Amino acid sequence: MPGARITGWGIAVPDKVVTNTDLSLRLDTSDEWITERTGIKERHIGGTTSELAIAAGRAALDRAGVSPGEIDVLVLATTTPDAIVPGTSATVQDGLGTAGGAMDLNAACSGFVYGMVAAHGLALAGASKILLIGSETLSRITDWDDRTLAILVGDGAGAVVLEATDGPGELLGWHLGADGSLRHLLHCEHGGHLWMNGKEIFRHAVRAVIESSLTALERAGLSPDDVDMFIPHQANARIITAAASRLGISEDRYVVTIDRYGNTSSASIPLALAHAIESDRLHRGDIVLLSGFGGGMTWASAVLRWGL
Ligand code: COA
Repeated sequence: MPGARITGWGIAVPDKVVTNTDLSLRLDTSDEWITERTGIKERHIGGTTSELAIAAGRAALDRAGVSPGEIDVLVLATTTPDAIVPGTSATVQDGLGTAGGAMDLNAACSGFVYGMVAAHGLALAGASKILLIGSETLSRITDWDDRTLAILVGDGAGAVVLEATDGPGELLGWHLGADGSLRHLLHCEHGGHLWMNGKEIFRHAVRAVIESSLTALERAGLSPDDVDMFIPHQANARIITAAASRLGISEDRYVVTIDRYGNTSSASIPLALAHAIESDRLHRGDIVLLSGFGGGMTWASAVLRWGL
């Protein structure tokens, strides 16, 4: 069966950096509290979801050596679209000049991994080149007087190009899940601000990451011991360390970038993936586990054999 493999990647973050100390000047919080409870030190703020997506998408296309006209499908994972209608993928399609279809995918912070699984399915259905982007501007739906959320969020985008392979692709196993009865834990009404029950999300998130990761690994015929690099959604460093330690994945085998980006929702996994590549922590043949969770609640894991 044909599959797909990642052939290029790119990221984009706004220039403006907001540190914990900056936030502590206007909110009742401190660098010490934020660092200890979340692992975040700073975040990038600004831009629009489409601008960041276009910049990350262009970088990924350049790296893959693929021209926009060769793309069959553009999938934009986002929970912060520029507008309700049209889909932000339409703006991104126009900005990049990609051929083929363009669609938004909203599975909140799990969106990039949902998109990764969907992209492999599209390759199986005959698409030869897919551009998958996770892009978010959570800052635009955040109440900057609400210290619970203002300290957590950041803006950014990450993208990958996937190209169909003749033989099996790099996706070895996956798992997608959703429980809409928990949708009240994280929501934003039209024109409103993000609201969250942090404690409850924390509890569900750790369990979702562990169970979903184990299911995806089992479907791949692998165990956590086989994982060379675990790239989890970056929502709280304590969620990452709790999940990794329960999976038995040591610190040298997982990526933490929340200190520099905060929670960038569906952009967090491609930003962390890019960091792992840039810091030479990923090598051809490595087993990579991606796992995300978010509003809905949704969760998603994908096991890849790294091919770059
Ligand atoms: N600065 C300083 N103090 C703060 C604060 C802040 N930004 N936010 C809350 N506090 C205070 C609380 O008022 C509370 O004070 P009290 O003990 O006097 O009542 C104390 O700190 C502890 O608050 P609590 O809510 O129990 O903190 P926590 O350890 O649960 O951390 C979160 C809060 C939000 C960081 C944490 O629950 C979390 O990360 N949850 C998951 C969120 C998530 O993943 N969201 C995205 C999903 S994709």
